[in-house]
Amino acid sequence: MTNAVNTEAQEIDAHALHAIAQYKNFSDLAGKVVFITGAGSGIGRAMADAFAVNGAHLALLDINADLLAQVQRELHATFPQIDVMTFVASITDDVAVAQAVDAAQQHFGCIDVLLNNAGISANRPTLELAPADWRRAIDINLNGVFYCAQAAGRHMVQQGSGVILNTASMYGTVAAPERAAYCASKAAVVMLTKVMAVEWAPAGLRVNALAPGYVQTALVDELVRTGRMDLDALVKRTPARRLGQPHEIATLALFLASGSAAYINGQAIVADGGWSAYSYI
Ligand SMILES: NC(=O)c1ccc[n+]([C@@H]2O[C@H](COP(=O)([O-])OP(=O)(O)OC[C@H]3O[C@@H](n4cnc5c(N)ncnc54)[C@H](O)[C@@H]3O)[C@@H](O)[C@H]2O)c1
Repeated sequence: MTNAVNTEAQEIDAHALHAIAQYKNFSDLAGKVVFITGAGSGIGRAMADAFAVNGAHLALLDINADLLAQVQRELHATFPQIDVMTFVASITDDVAVAQAVDAAQQHFGCIDVLLNNAGISANRPTLELAPADWRRAIDINLNGVFYCAQAAGRHMVQQGSGVILNTASMYGTVAAPERAAYCASKAAVVMLTKVMAVEWAPAGLRVNALAPGYVQTALVDELVRTGRMDLDALVKRTPARRLGQPHEIATLALFLASGSAAYINGQAIVADGGWSAYSYI
């Protein structure tokens, strides 16, 4: 029993040191309230760490209750000074999303930042893409992002401030075969971002999109495991000769959420190790 507890404590310590070493200090984010979707793993999890390191309070939403509970436990142990709320829900459930956002607003008194990050891959040859797979990708990657942004936007417009970062993808700006639903949904997120940015800027909001290239997360691991993606070819095709890491996207989110990015609005910021600039062979 003691050994198990010690091991858990050591893991948490190692995790904390790892996180703290990686993230720069954006002092204006301390005490801010940050709502993160898809916070249970990958990029969303790294975002939770990054904002916690900077002293932000967190409202975390994910469809996976176990992952979310683990993240909350680790954050409580590592950052006892911050307040962490969790919500188990699908972003496709507009009613549950609105309830979660309202509950966070009521608990914290405001929502300063929405990291609209939850999403899924949908790699399949276009001729084999079943209507149900198409609808699922659009429902999660586009409709869910809209529900979350609208729910948070209602409070932000009223309070006269706020930052929304929608996670799109480099595949919202460039195309690849066998990604019809994914590319279409992410391109739509980029345009949704621009519309919300120009509509809500006069009310004091900024809305930008993150457009990552390939990042080493469960999403990519699963595509490699199921043979839908060739990891060696991927690394070779990337000018940086490696995949991105979740903390690199989380660091971009810190910058864009901070006052340092006060004049950046309505943009999709690509972080892809040079992938989309490269068009040789
Ligand atoms: N990993 C990459 O290479 C990459 C590249 C570009 C963009 N993205 C985007 O980044 C975002 C995060 O991806 P990731 O790689 O961290 O994936 P991930 O699979 O590691 O994490 C996604 C998280 O979202 C949650 N989630 C999935 N569907 C949900 C739903 N309907 N409601 C609530 N939560 C849900 C999952 O439970 C999981 O915790 C996604 O929008 C993805 O499209 C990822």
